[in-house]
This record gives sequence, structure tokens and C-alpha cells, in this order.
Amino acid sequence: MKIQRLKGQSAIITGSSSGIGEAIAIELAVEGAKVVINYSHSEKAAFDIVRGIKKNGGEAIAIKADVSNENDVKDMFKEAISTFGTIDILVNNAGIQKDASITEMSLNDWKLVLDINLTGQFLCSREAIKEYRRRGLTETSCALGKIICMSSVHEIIPWSGHVNYSSSKGGVSMFMKSMAQEVGRDKIRVNAIAPGAIKTRINKEIWATKEAEQKVLELIPYNRLGEAKDVAKVAAWLASDESDYIHGTTIFVDGGMALYPGFVDNG
Ligand code: BGC
Repeated sequence: MKIQRLKGQSAIITGSSSGIGEAIAIELAVEGAKVVINYSHSEKAAFDIVRGIKKNGGEAIAIKADVSNENDVKDMFKEAISTFGTIDILVNNAGIQKDASITEMSLNDWKLVLDINLTGQFLCSREAIKEYRRRGLTETSCALGKIICMSSVHEIIPWSGHVNYSSSKGGVSMFMKSMAQEVGRDKIRVNAIAPGAIKTRINKEIWATKEAEQKVLELIPYNRLGEAKDVAKVAAWLASDESDYIHGTTIFVDGGMALYPGFVDNG
């Protein structure tokens, strides 16, 4: 039988009722972690995922919380800790896009994206760090706790028509690094994952047709779109002690999208 690398640990994965978050929650559960499926609207999907994980012998609960709401986040951590005893892993995954050209972008959509994609990571990380320090080291991991921040290739690649989203991900990069510098001495391990074009609901227009897919493939040297599982595998490894000396780093899971493929035969 496969060794479960996260046995005895508990994890909150924000925004895990679909897409990359769902895949990460399932992968962490396969690795033996008890997981919180966090959702803001998709209650049925969240409970279906919980049922699926339990059917496969894992442990999971669903908790509704808007990550940009301070009280919701505090209540989510309280419920998770009272159910599982503690939390060992936080995956700051929840994120949205509200695309528009800059002059068409409403202040509301600017704020909404920053609130969920960046402030949400701050609110959840703050609660996780408090819990890691309260609980102290355990036998289940070398680290006091782990935080994985979901970034994007757009933490470094500017993205016209998406200034709110790219700004939020640029912010996630610096948030992650500053936090890693601050809490590393406590043995809290903080990293980020920067996915490229992963086939999920958020970008369905780029893979809905063959023509659209062909166009985006020009941006991917490895010449395929990513799957949520590609990201989930990296998240499980980053959450495990196998990556114990990786701290304050962003791992790009993008098939080379961040390699400026426009420079092939150009420049
Ligand atoms: C965005 C996707 C996009 C990908 C590559 C991600 O962060 O959410 O919509 O396809 O970056 O551009």
C-alpha cells in the first residue's frame, strides 16, 4: 500500500468545491489528511466532494465561508479545529476573475477580486499561524504548520484586460514571501504555486473550442493545457515533509508559460 504522506494531519483548502481546490482537497485526502472543503456558494458540490472522499475511506467536512469576511474566516477555523482537533495545512486557493478593460472596470470588481484573492489569503493565514503557534509541534510533521498560497503565472506575467487579477497575484507573491520571512523561525513553512493555463471553469473560454485551445497552446512551450491534478500533486508534495527545506518559494506549474514563448524565433 502507498505510504500516506499526510497521515494524521488536517487541512483547510479554501475554494475547494470545484477546480484546482477540489483536486487539491481530494489529493490531500488520498495522502491521509482530514480535509475541510470550503465553499462560498456551491453547497451541493461541496457536500458531494465530502461524500466522495468518505466513500474512499477519507475524512472530510464542508464549511461555508467567504474568505474575504473576517468573521466567516474565524468561524471556519473554529469549526475546523473543534472537529479535527487542529489544523496543520492551509491551502489559500480561493480566487476569482472579474475581467474588463481598465476603463470599463468597476471599483466594485476591482475590490472584489483584491478582497477574495489577496485579503482572503491574509485573513486565513493569520488564523492558521495563530493555531500553529497555539498547538505547538507534533509528531505528524517536521514543521509547525504549512501554508500554500495559490498564485498564478500572472504574478509575473502582466495581463491586459485583467488588471485586478494580475495585481492580486502580484500581491500574493509578495505577501507569501514577506510572511515566509516573518514566520520561518517558528518552523511554519510558507510557499506558493503559480499555475498556468489549467483546464477549469475559470478559463473555460480558452479550451471550449479547438481553435481557442490552439491559440492558447502558442503560449505553452510544453504544448498542452494543464489539468487540476497537475497542481494537486505539487500541493501534496509541498504540504509534506518531503519538501521540508522549501520555504518562501513559488513553484510554477505552467508547462513553461512563464518562459516568454513569444521570444521563440523573435527578439
Ligand atoms: C487564470 C486563467 C488563465 C491562466 C493563464 C490563471 O491564473 O486564472 O484564467 O488561463 O492564468 O493565463
